[in-house]
Amino acid sequence: MLLKIEDLDVSFRNDEGDVKQAAIDVNLTLDRGEVLGIVGESGSGKSSVSMSVARLLPSPPAFYPKGRILLDGEDTLTMPLPRLQGLRGKKVGVVFQDPMGSLSPLHRIGEQLVETIRLHEKMTEKAAEELSLEWLGKVGIPDPAVKAKAYPHELSGGMQQRVMIAMALMLGPDLVIADEPTTALDVTIQAQVLRLMKELHRANSGVLLITHDLGVVSQMATKLAVMKDGRVIETSDDPKAFFTSPKHPYSQGLVREAKRMELES
Ligand SMILES: Nc1ncnc2c1ncn2[C@@H]1O[C@H](COP(=O)(O)OP(=O)(O)O)[C@@H](O)[C@H]1O
Ligand SMILES: [Mg+2]
Repeated sequence: MLLKIEDLDVSFRNDEGDVKQAAIDVNLTLDRGEVLGIVGESGSGKSSVSMSVARLLPSPPAFYPKGRILLDGEDTLTMPLPRLQGLRGKKVGVVFQDPMGSLSPLHRIGEQLVETIRLHEKMTEKAAEELSLEWLGKVGIPDPAVKAKAYPHELSGGMQQRVMIAMALMLGPDLVIADEPTTALDVTIQAQVLRLMKELHRANSGVLLITHDLGVVSQMATKLAVMKDGRVIETSDDPKAFFTSPKHPYSQGLVREAKRMELES
């Protein structure tokens, strides 16, 4: 099993010592070749769970009262940091909601791609540059050689998102985590970016796709989980069936709302 989340709790402790439980007793699995969609309203714990997989939540305030996150059998919550850093960007690619979560404002985008490649692969500077330009082209950035010299803020939000997708996918990760990858984008660009992700990830990788958009899930996911108040309240191995007959009353509300919005648009 590529990813097995077992009995996971994620909590945050604030400066006063108060504890907020963001995820409670979460159990999820994801195999190679599958796309697991996690849906649920804002604050339901989707990011807490997905960011924990690569231990990307600042800790403190985040901590893990219980549970394991097994990536090919290895617990990412307890593995030594250097081991984890070796996996990030290589075995696990992450697409954040906000591109600045993974792009540094201080460096040209080409340099950032080259640096990430050379951190993980024994490659000459030149070969890494070629791979970067190839990927900037693949994600639909015009004039890659010119754009590689730009700083992130010189690109539009949609273009930044494309760079981040290149960064997340170029080393062929086994696991792709995309946390609301299109939420910050114009509706017209959202579909393009999703299509790109769908085309460019390796077919035998596993994708964890977090979204509040049920339409996206029904297009892309092979299975889904609904979260509410930190808990997984329903799972389905058949997103299309889920869409016609959700079981949990809360899921029924979500589906009704999604269908209503579809009619309006
Ligand atoms: N750094 C933090 N400190 C305190 N509480 C947090 C922090 N991050 C998230 N939370 C809380 O955890 C809960 C789940 O948040 P999150 O995982 O971001 O949900 P989602 O991604 O579904 O919107 C929310 O109540 C949120 O306010
Ligand atoms: Mg979130």
